[in-house]
Amino acid sequence: ATTTLASFSLGSAQFASAEEQTQQTSNWTIEDASQIERTDDNTAPYIEPDFEKIAPELHVWDTWPLRNKDGSIAKVNGNYVIFSLTASADLLPGKRHDVATIRYFYSKNGQDWTLGGKAFETEEAYGARQWAGSAMIEDGELNLFYTATGRKGEENVSYEQRLALAKGDIQANAHDVSFSNFDHSIILEPEGEYYQTEEQSNQGDISYAFRDPWFFEDPKTGKDYILFEGNSAGTPVERSLDPAYIGSESFQNDYELEMEDFAKLFNGSIGIAKATNDEYTEYEALPPLLEANYVNQELERPHIVTKGNQYYLFTNTHEHKFGPGVDGPDGLYGFSSDQLLGEYEPLNDSGLVLANPEDNAYQAYSWMVLPNGKVISFYNFHDLDGRNIADLGATSPEYQMNHFGGTLAPTIKLAIQNDSTKVLNAGKPGKIK
Ligand code: FRU
Repeated sequence: ATTTLASFSLGSAQFASAEEQTQQTSNWTIEDASQIERTDDNTAPYIEPDFEKIAPELHVWDTWPLRNKDGSIAKVNGNYVIFSLTASADLLPGKRHDVATIRYFYSKNGQDWTLGGKAFETEEAYGARQWAGSAMIEDGELNLFYTATGRKGEENVSYEQRLALAKGDIQANAHDVSFSNFDHSIILEPEGEYYQTEEQSNQGDISYAFRDPWFFEDPKTGKDYILFEGNSAGTPVERSLDPAYIGSESFQNDYELEMEDFAKLFNGSIGIAKATNDEYTEYEALPPLLEANYVNQELERPHIVTKGNQYYLFTNTHEHKFGPGVDGPDGLYGFSSDQLLGEYEPLNDSGLVLANPEDNAYQAYSWMVLPNGKVISFYNFHDLDGRNIADLGATSPEYQMNHFGGTLAPTIKLAIQNDSTKVLNAGKPGKIK
């Protein structure tokens, strides 16, 4: 999985200007993932389930803050803003993805939130429903990136995923925040060469992803990108095990692939595309930043935090998304590099940054690391029975209603130092400052 975008060789040396960086897709290898282990430094404290919900009448899950273009948390006339996927709290939690609606909350102190309402009129948005994204304000204009899932008017729930942008105006004063004058566009669809199309996925794969657009301005070059969750391109029959997916030579020598036909269905990838206009409505897809072939199927909500000279790339995944022979908990995973487009190495050797505790293994999900090292997430599922829950839909309706959190989880403070991280403590739910 090596792709040279633009570089030239002179003798044995390779040169690439900062602008025409050599891009190489990094692998989260089987060897890396085989080192995944819960430790005191990566395990979140147990969360008592009875804390106040941000919006009791709603299920609230994936959440992202309004940021400035440079990635810092934005404050608009004294208000912080967060956007969340939401659905009525009467709904069966396992069904919420089929009706997800983006709503927003605002706050003066970045921890006590008031529900503002729907971010935009859903009739005007793309998709039968809208999934996660990111939000950036520039010159008073809101750029709200989201996933357009399914098609308007569809009879049966479908899972097509396209990246979309809603540009709108922001009104914010001492009492209230609201948005208006939205203009929606589809900004990227998979092309089947770097990123799997739904049609390719339908030819035998487990699931399909092309979602969660996350805006990023590279501080080193000033160029604008979106990151997203994808899958490695092609169909299962076209795939084979590249030694680079396995790891070091010594690890390769001792490695035996189990359940090959099943293992090759694990093709999670972290995508990146470069903005080609100033309105952020057009992009050129670049080769993936990272792939987890034979390792993991879903690298969700990828995002970057920069510190010093380093890019820290984070993503979320579930226990049941790891391939055969590889085990990892529901958690936040991370990688670092000194260049945006390549050479990512897993943090803490394995990639595991933050895991739910073993005795409440699904308590939180959809973590997002903020530039201040705070990690937000939602309170997912309270389960002390230690059962392996592949998904909420597999449990009874009563069980789902009684055990689903559907609100913001206590914020976790993370220390990041070179290639290692450490969970410091848990604070107030939904605290971003
Ligand atoms: C993570 C996720 C996202 C997606 C959303 C849909 O929790 O799977 O990737 O946008 O949930 O509800």
